[in-house]
Amino acid sequence: KCKKIVVVGSTNVDLIARVSHLPEPGETIGDAEYCLSYGGKGANQAIAAARSGGHVSFISCLGDDAYADTLITSFVDSGIDVDYIQKCVRHSTGIAFIFVAENGENCIAVAPGANNLLRGERMDTILPVIKEADALVLQLEIPYESVISLIEYAHTVDTKIILNPAPAKQIPSYILEKVDILILNETEAMLIAGQSLDFSEPIGIARSLLRRVGQVVILTLGEKGSVIVSDEMEKQIPSYVVNTVDTTGAGDTFCGAFVAQWVEGVDLQDCVQFATAAAALSVTRIGAQVSIPYQKEVIEFMRNRIL
Ligand code: RIB
Ligand code: NA
Repeated sequence: KCKKIVVVGSTNVDLIARVSHLPEPGETIGDAEYCLSYGGKGANQAIAAARSGGHVSFISCLGDDAYADTLITSFVDSGIDVDYIQKCVRHSTGIAFIFVAENGENCIAVAPGANNLLRGERMDTILPVIKEADALVLQLEIPYESVISLIEYAHTVDTKIILNPAPAKQIPSYILEKVDILILNETEAMLIAGQSLDFSEPIGIARSLLRRVGQVVILTLGEKGSVIVSDEMEKQIPSYVVNTVDTTGAGDTFCGAFVAQWVEGVDLQDCVQFATAAAALSVTRIGAQVSIPYQKEVIEFMRNRIL
């Protein structure tokens, strides 16, 4: 039987300006290149999980603007169940303003719009879906108190919880201990584990976080790959060398691709290897969702890199 993944999170329309370098305060860059792409951490992770073969329901709040229907069509095209996506009247869909520099670095400002409405009574209808699911995937781009209450609920009904605490925020210990798998980058780790950490020793950081988390900690290190720690294993997984064009959504691709493998019972190390390859492919192309690869592509990429 196919395992069920529920992603609850944000949807954004990414308005991207490709620039030679990231602008300084007060600077005007006159020759930026514009492109529109679909994004939002929740949506990106849902797409990545679905394209990696996962059976995914995505729960998100969109506006009642022209973007909403196109977004929903694009989720359906990736094989996502969109029954629980809500269009919120008199609100706009989330928008992210993104600068991408030639070296692949970015900076982002998000106007959350309808994403802020994923709270209160709107949450009640989604609880049965979470109860039925095998895995719940969360990020921090919707109201914080919603994420907290979803973790508490999922824990009581025994749905596995995967948290990607992005954008970085503190997580109280009584919540962290209910999270089964924590997937985070260095910035997020610094905030959650404490500033005084020594990042020359990433395994040590992941280890110190593991004491506060349910089962597994995966610390992603960009070009340096990632480390996995659990009670059974500790392992550093290198990344692939690729031509980086745009890193937007690479972390999301990693999370979604990972979960799709993990719910099916794939060995932890192989899940991370797969997720690493999916993320590597995504950074070679501009835009978040358009750049997220399908399972077939990822497998082919991994095969070519081994030969
Ligand atoms: O994680 C990448 C995403 O963050 C982008 O797609 C953008 O929408 C921002 O929310
Ligand atoms: Na990309």
